[in-house]
Amino acid sequence: MAGSPEFTTTTTKGDILTIRDACTPEEHDIFLQWSDACQWDPCPSDYAIYGQIPTNRMLLGFVQGRIVACLAVHVFENRVVFFGPYIVLNPMDRGKGYGHCMLQYMLDQFPDYDIGCDTELDRIEYYHRYGMETYYTVYCVRGDLPTPLMSQAARHLSEYQLVSATEISLDFIVNMDYEVTGFRRTDFCQKKFHDPSQSAFALCSADQKEILGLACIAPTISPGLYLISPLYAKSPRVARALALELMQRVVDQHNVTSDMNTYLNFTLYCQETNPDALDLFLNVFGWKSVGVYKRLWKGGIPTAQYPQRLYGYNNSECG
Ligand SMILES: CC(C)(COP(=O)(O)OP(=O)(O)OC[C@H]1O[C@@H](n2cnc3c(N)ncnc32)[C@H](O)[C@@H]1OP(=O)(O)O)[C@@H](O)C(=O)NCCC(=O)NCCS
Repeated sequence: MAGSPEFTTTTTKGDILTIRDACTPEEHDIFLQWSDACQWDPCPSDYAIYGQIPTNRMLLGFVQGRIVACLAVHVFENRVVFFGPYIVLNPMDRGKGYGHCMLQYMLDQFPDYDIGCDTELDRIEYYHRYGMETYYTVYCVRGDLPTPLMSQAARHLSEYQLVSATEISLDFIVNMDYEVTGFRRTDFCQKKFHDPSQSAFALCSADQKEILGLACIAPTISPGLYLISPLYAKSPRVARALALELMQRVVDQHNVTSDMNTYLNFTLYCQETNPDALDLFLNVFGWKSVGVYKRLWKGGIPTAQYPQRLYGYNNSECG
């Protein structure tokens, strides 16, 4: 559907709003820049992936040739859509119906899909108007490397072996992703886990017969802030070993390549459906919750077989 024709509508205030897909690198950059302006600490490498997936819609709204709104729509293979970022950036442009027209256009495009988003608490009523229902709470947690725990990183534990995710078959990764999130998304997994430029790793049993966890870490747009996303693990012990290992790698790299003035810290999103994740990051790592969101769905919620294996994700693409 990418590259669909322009759609034009008139807002209740009489403005003519044109909606079309972003089609230049500069237009794709709007999503990153506006998310940054909202202080959502976006991850440039993830936003680059969203723009490369042909089924995704990166929608822009124009009034008199000026961009007033953006709405990214992540379209998965099993008739599931997750949307965000969704922004009318300029305060002068808010409340004029632009956001409504963008959202309604998107909902009309996907009438029989399960459609999800994460929202801040003061916007829940807004989405309820569109038939979206609240399912559960999502926490953004943040902190620095819990140095006293480093003896439990993968490199120190003989029962595990860390391998690059590029060595794991794509089919295996797609199925694991589907079982944990309920989203079937080959393109996303290929670009996130099979691209050698991504820091994506699998944690295997020592004999490499079983894959116990999968995780990726990448810099956000905020200097020194890294996002762990996604992080799947079969147990809290695996999640801890994998997260510590990835963070230590960032610290090691930082010590080699940069001046020491940037303070490093780490963040991820975890959901209340996995109490082990909250316990790991808040109690064991001693991190703080810096944001509370609600996960909303319209139509239904995709069923994951092992949602309790999801320890961290990026709330833009929800995985
Ligand atoms: C949320 C946002 C996209 C809405 O777009 P908008 O163009 O300002 O909204 P609209 O003018 O289309 O508003 C539609 C209706 O929703 C209402 N509304 C807007 N924000 C609301 C909120 N936070 N809670 C409840 N209702 C809200 C408006 O009052 C309007 O009601 P009306 O039709 O009865 O007058 C926009 O305000 C925005 O970008 N905010 C900052 C970024 C953000 O929060 N994005 C969403 C992430 S979850």
